[in-house]
Amino acid sequence: MCGVIGYVGSNATPDFFFRGLERLEYRGYDSSGIAMINSDGVFIERAEGKLKNLKPKLAYLPEYAKIGMGHTRWATHGKPSEENAHPHRSENIILLHNGIIENYKPLKEFLISQGYQFQSETDTEVAAHLLNYEFKQNSHIKNPLERMKKSLYSLVSKIRGAFAFGILCTDVPDTLFAVKYGSPVLLGLGEGENYMASGLTALVDHTCNVIFMDDNEIAYVTANNIEIVDFSGNPAESHVVEVEWQGHMIDRGGFDHYMLKEIHDQPIAVAKTIENRCDIEKGQINLRKMTLFNTKLKEINRIQIIACGTSYYAGCLSRYFIEKFTGIPVDVELASESRYRTPTVNVHTLSIAVSQSGETIDTLQAIKFAKANKAQTVAMVNVPGTSIGHECDDECMLYAGPEVGVASTKAFSAQLSALILLGLTIAQEQEKLPKEKIAEYINELVKVPSFIEKVLTLSSKIKEIAKKYCDVNSILFIGRGYQWPIALEGALKLKELSYIHAEGYAAGELKHGPIALIDENMTVVCLAPKDQYYEKTISNIEEIRARGGKILSVGTEGDTELKNISNDFIGIPECSEIVLPFLTTVPMHLFAYWIAVHKGTDVDQPRNLAKSVTVE
Ligand code: F6R
Repeated sequence: MCGVIGYVGSNATPDFFFRGLERLEYRGYDSSGIAMINSDGVFIERAEGKLKNLKPKLAYLPEYAKIGMGHTRWATHGKPSEENAHPHRSENIILLHNGIIENYKPLKEFLISQGYQFQSETDTEVAAHLLNYEFKQNSHIKNPLERMKKSLYSLVSKIRGAFAFGILCTDVPDTLFAVKYGSPVLLGLGEGENYMASGLTALVDHTCNVIFMDDNEIAYVTANNIEIVDFSGNPAESHVVEVEWQGHMIDRGGFDHYMLKEIHDQPIAVAKTIENRCDIEKGQINLRKMTLFNTKLKEINRIQIIACGTSYYAGCLSRYFIEKFTGIPVDVELASESRYRTPTVNVHTLSIAVSQSGETIDTLQAIKFAKANKAQTVAMVNVPGTSIGHECDDECMLYAGPEVGVASTKAFSAQLSALILLGLTIAQEQEKLPKEKIAEYINELVKVPSFIEKVLTLSSKIKEIAKKYCDVNSILFIGRGYQWPIALEGALKLKELSYIHAEGYAAGELKHGPIALIDENMTVVCLAPKDQYYEKTISNIEEIRARGGKILSVGTEGDTELKNISNDFIGIPECSEIVLPFLTTVPMHLFAYWIAVHKGTDVDQPRNLAKSVTVE
């Protein structure tokens, strides 16, 4: 969490940092700050709350400077406030941080004993003072850059946790210092100027040439040079990567919110994720394009999917298909919990880390465990150069394009299509399905984008329906078979966006407890398209009706039986089983979106959340 941007060159303006932070605000939005250094001195402005609160303070920053950095915060230690906002200053050191310093308490006690006074409750201020302390200890080193280097090596040897630091030092005013351990940092290369950031989105307007820093690295960034070393000062290997993202991909594209734009991006997100990977004429999956170069697909006898939140639900949904295609057992694990068990994985296990951001720390730790236990590991991520991608043997990219809205939408559909494709790939390699069957599935998958387009035309109808439900206290979501994870996803989206209590249940599970909640005040969203589970789900809906519950159903167009027993009905086109889950998901996202809009909550930045969860 937290967004970081840094610049060194000849053209740092307050507006440059502000716009960079706007691009990163999805990573944290409870306070922000900018520091700039020019010949008149150090200027720091900070503000509590949303980034817009910082805007009036930009006038107090210099018009131009050669170096500076900015931060947008998601609070870990210390409440959101101006004092706790970054950057923090300790005399000649100005520092900002993304991550957590786990041993900050004893370090703070030590620094207080050395006479340091703390202005904030943050763990970050400890790092600023400790670096200043080390700088003083190294006063025998006369060259200020060398003195800073030595001090940084001492700093990183004394702190534990996860940290991406951006640091300025008034004694070395032409150098931006970037430190990475456990939290992402990338460096952007310009002409006569260079950048650092915690996410690509901050840099896409400025450069496509980036270096993704590895853990245990420190970068010394000047206008014309970038030197990267390890934590002992030995030169580190680095590669410049040319990224494809461009500024226009992260604009709202005329929509009121990123979330609405990203819901409407789903056809293209799915198309890009499957295109080139399917050879429609031959009815085959193109293995090279699946980029599974190191995975021995023929030897797999167990699959483990590791993920959090919406990505976890995409994993749960794909299990129905992957088991059906391959006959291989699939375990879907909540990453934050899988570490507290001892999952039995071995060289015949394929462990797939599914993560839009590629930075979720729980998923990263869980996949590290799988790898250490010899599983074959694949990262399924939507962002290039991520920690999870770096950790795994192979990287099966999603091509959903940048997802800025904090609530994940298009990544879910891209994940689902990639997981289904991966299941078919394994079936193809292990000859678990006849060639004709694989060809049939591929033919259906390529139709998904145009079917989603049709469902998107229901947006204004769903907007009207949502109006009726925005004042309720609680909503249940039910579904059977692969509609169950979609019910879970629908409930998650609703609660995070609208703060309405919502729960997802397997439809058959209702009578084992939750049915006690049903009365005339309870609304139940029922996923009941015409599939193999239809009749049983209809019986569950009747049970809800008999107890006075209100029914909002999502079913197949023209299904009058379902429509007649529902208070409201959303009809999706008739389609094959493999297309269906994509189509019932879209109304879930639109329903949550429109309820949030009617309620006036912050759709793109719901309270207490952040897009990239890099703390445990
Ligand atoms: C919900 C949502 C979160 C994320 C979760 C995992 O709308 O966005 O539940 O899905 O934090 O994030 P990634 O996929 O980046 O690992």
